[in-house]
Amino acid sequence: MDIYSNRSTYKLIIILFALVIGGLSVVYTNDLVNKLADRERKLIDLSAKGYKEIASAEFSESQGFLFKEIIEANTSVPVILADEEGNYISHRNFDAPKGLSPEKEAAYFKAQITEMKLQYPPILIEIAGLKQYIYYRNSDLINQLRYYPVIQLAVIGLFVIMGYLAFSLSKNAEQNRVWVGLAKETAHQLGTPISSLIAWAEYLRMKPEIEEEGIVDEMDKDIQRLQMITARFSSIGSEQKLQLEDLGEMVEGAISYLRSRVSQRVVINVKIQPEGAQVMAFINRPLLEWVVENITKNAVDAMVGEGKLTLEITELTEGNVQMDITDTGKGIPRKQFKKVFEPGFTTKKRGWGLGLTLARRIVEQYHKGRIFVKSSEPGKGTTFRILLRNRM
Ligand SMILES: Nc1ncnc2c1ncn2[C@@H]1O[C@H](COP(=O)(O)OP(=O)(O)OP(=O)(O)O)[C@@H](O)[C@H]1O
Ligand SMILES: [Mg+2]
Repeated sequence: MDIYSNRSTYKLIIILFALVIGGLSVVYTNDLVNKLADRERKLIDLSAKGYKEIASAEFSESQGFLFKEIIEANTSVPVILADEEGNYISHRNFDAPKGLSPEKEAAYFKAQITEMKLQYPPILIEIAGLKQYIYYRNSDLINQLRYYPVIQLAVIGLFVIMGYLAFSLSKNAEQNRVWVGLAKETAHQLGTPISSLIAWAEYLRMKPEIEEEGIVDEMDKDIQRLQMITARFSSIGSEQKLQLEDLGEMVEGAISYLRSRVSQRVVINVKIQPEGAQVMAFINRPLLEWVVENITKNAVDAMVGEGKLTLEITELTEGNVQMDITDTGKGIPRKQFKKVFEPGFTTKKRGWGLGLTLARRIVEQYHKGRIFVKSSEPGKGTTFRILLRNRM
């Protein structure tokens, strides 16, 4: 039964795959950004040359035109032309606030220059002893691109999470439908043979020679058991209303079957706290009997023919009722406290590992209660605890 353990391997592969894709995309965009930044630097170099040529005395009309074109080709990289003292002369590609007074404008660009100096050293243009500087920084495009991988990763991550959720939700929904549908169908199918068995038993009861041997009474017990199984399957296959019922009575019903089957050396005790009280809880009786039966069967298995099984029902405050099922069996290692509830987990040769899965499903989904291993010590015994409600 290891279809369930493969699942985590698949998960791991998918996560690794997502990480590799994410990593590659970061590396790729980074490379792209660096190349673009490099290209922008070259563009600025070129415009610097353009400025130089235009400012120099010996340029022809056509050359001047050419270099003006080069300067104007830069439509993305923000540049500021400033004098030796860092006073603003002109700019390109700035979203400067509109309508500033000349002083305010100069101050604005001065502040920009201070920032730009930190990013790239300015380019010096020296024309006839006159020094000017071109300050520049990365274009907004590059700045946006730098954040791009982060945004991209976030988006990919979101998709992966959403996809995973959608997948597991739909898978859970499907499992639910299969489980519930199968149970309902089984209950339905059992109905007909059971009714005819009842009729046959009635018929046999009318034959004195058979009636006297007590055969019909035994048959009746089996029929009742079959009816109980049908009730369980039909309850799990449909939304059932919970009813306020006596837990002590329910437990007695659930273990009566066990009592006749376990060895004399297994002592079964039912304790109710406060003593003699009627502790009530909202339950679906056929389903909760099934839970108690599964847990007590496990307890008996764990004790291999000898020990003490105690069922203790306690009324708590705040609308809760607690049921502890304690055995003196082989115990459960602490790291398996959660694992025992997983489908397919079993340590038995003939086990399906479904008893506790079913129990948890019934307690948590149908009763909105809780079930867990309260304590266990290897070699000494185990206590399972079930919490139910006595108020709605
Ligand atoms: N009271 C207990 N003491 C010790 N081990 C337990 C106890 N209850 C459950 N376990 C462990 O948990 C495992 C799972 O229990 P579960 O009832 O889900 O399946 P199972 O009993 O192995 O098979 P089945 O589907 O027939 O019930 C058991 O195989 C056993 O190892
Ligand atoms: Mg079991």
